[in-house]
Amino acid sequence: MAMTTGGRTRIFSGVQPTGHLTLGNYLGAVRRWAEEDQHRADALFCVVNLHALTVEHDPARVRRLSRQAATLLLASGLDPEVCTVFMQSQVDEHLRLSYLMECTASDGEMRRMIQYKEKAAAQRAKGGVRLSLLTYPALMAADILAYGTHEVPVGEDQRQHVELTRDLAVRFNQRYGATFVVPRTTLPAVAARVMDLQEPTSKMGKSRARTAGVVYLLDEPEVVRKKVLRAVTDAEPEVAYDPEQRPGVANLLNVLAACTGGDPRRLAEGYDSYGALKKDVAEAVVETLRPVRERHAELAADPASVDAVLRRGAERARALARPRVDAAFEAVGLLPAG
Ligand code: TYM
Repeated sequence: MAMTTGGRTRIFSGVQPTGHLTLGNYLGAVRRWAEEDQHRADALFCVVNLHALTVEHDPARVRRLSRQAATLLLASGLDPEVCTVFMQSQVDEHLRLSYLMECTASDGEMRRMIQYKEKAAAQRAKGGVRLSLLTYPALMAADILAYGTHEVPVGEDQRQHVELTRDLAVRFNQRYGATFVVPRTTLPAVAARVMDLQEPTSKMGKSRARTAGVVYLLDEPEVVRKKVLRAVTDAEPEVAYDPEQRPGVANLLNVLAACTGGDPRRLAEGYDSYGALKKDVAEAVVETLRPVRERHAELAADPASVDAVLRRGAERARALARPRVDAAFEAVGLLPAG
């Protein structure tokens, strides 16, 4: 039997500090972690700062964005009394297990990852692809499997990585004996893939070079309004929900639905102009982000308390991960440390 988690569902998810957190991160993942996941399971949420080193990076920026991401997780409502919030690099088990995952995966599997193909193309143009960009899903699998995770709440773009994690868990268990829980992806009902407002066929991403179509959690309300009002739609006269043919409008309706709790198709019926729709989307986004921005300003004034939360989180995470990673080391034939 794989090690148990004491009968409670275990949830793990993470966010990379490669840029400022976006509305996509919030609606696709973080909001659900705060409103639902932390209350219904034993949940761990991690700023996966090691992943930020897989692309060209500036150490000072990664340091700053790591603390900012942690502060934003708390500002979004993750309660360190209820769930575990921590920094990946402060728990060595992730790196220990990542190597075993590299020894479980094949290079072909890694090369098939869509995100690798996209990011590698961009990095190649800048002068080189880090090997860690290719092996990244092994570290992500380790993040998840170290904790006996049952559910991984993510946006649609991470589904392929979680599928690979499942494959690796099954393969490892077959080869070396039951060690890992096989996790499953959970996606939000709407806004599983928030698109760029200027380029609605691409995901709204935190590392995009053009930022006019990306709403950041810390954007001022005026900036949010401007970005939404300038969103690309199409030339059709009436508002309708058709993600295939009319991705820009569908994206605005999805965002509105996610912010107001409605259904995108039904919401479309209430509008006869794009202007009115955009105005409502802008206000809904501003109001959704307002409490997060306000709470962030308070928490950011006291970075020592954020660091203290992270320290406690890392201690708990380490204690949870250690026995399983030790067991995995032994299972593959490594002599125990003593
Ligand atoms: P990252 O940092 O790109 O994104 C964090 C979370 O936000 C979701 N997300 C989106 N959801 C909807 N629309 C969007 N435009 C959008 N952009 C991002 C992501 O799906 C994700 O849930 N590899 C992961 C981080 C990671 C991880 C893990 C996640 C590392 N180890 C273990 C879960 C479990 C990533 O790059 O997420």
